Amino acid sequence: MSTINITVKVNGKPRKATVPPRLLLSDFIRQNLNLPGTHVGCEHGVCGCCTVIVDGAPARSCLMFAVQADGSEITTVESLGRVDSLHPIQQAFWEEHGLQCGFCTPGMLILAYDLLQRNPNPTEEEVRDVVSDNLCRCTGYQNIINSILKAAGKMRDAEANAPARADVAAVSKMEAVQ
Ligand code: FES
Ligand code: FES
Repeated sequence: MSTINITVKVNGKPRKATVPPRLLLSDFIRQNLNLPGTHVGCEHGVCGCCTVIVDGAPARSCLMFAVQADGSEITTVESLGRVDSLHPIQQAFWEEHGLQCGFCTPGMLILAYDLLQRNPNPTEEEVRDVVSDNLCRCTGYQNIINSILKAAGKMRDAEANAPARADVAAVSKMEAVQ
């Protein structure tokens, strides 16, 4: 079978690979790049658990071939945070019980991340609209919506406090050199 060379930037890191033309982007991410946080459910674009960000917009990675992503920037759920340093969105999902089995959660986190990048202060209606793109069979959605609204507040607070933290850091640095 013929193969094709591709280069993508995934979570900020350039990655090169040689792939079969019909390899799905979701399988490429999970198997070739060893990033299993992106889940695969229906594999025909319905459930949304495979959602990643491709060139700034959410995309169903099961509906793309890896070769179609050649030259693109991809963000997966692994970019958000780690177990010992959760992203505010992950923290809010944990605090608000925004997941049960967790199968839909990577897609929901990516949708939330994309929404809050574009709109830091969404209404509940706007969150409902975004979340309705993906399927969750466990939570009834309300806790996911609560989680995203809480995350939005956390991120706005962090943003508001950022200049103050920068000022403190600058003063400490000045004191250190004096
Ligand atoms: S696995 Fe891609 S939409 Fe369901
Ligand atoms: S938490 Fe189970 S599918 Fe959403």
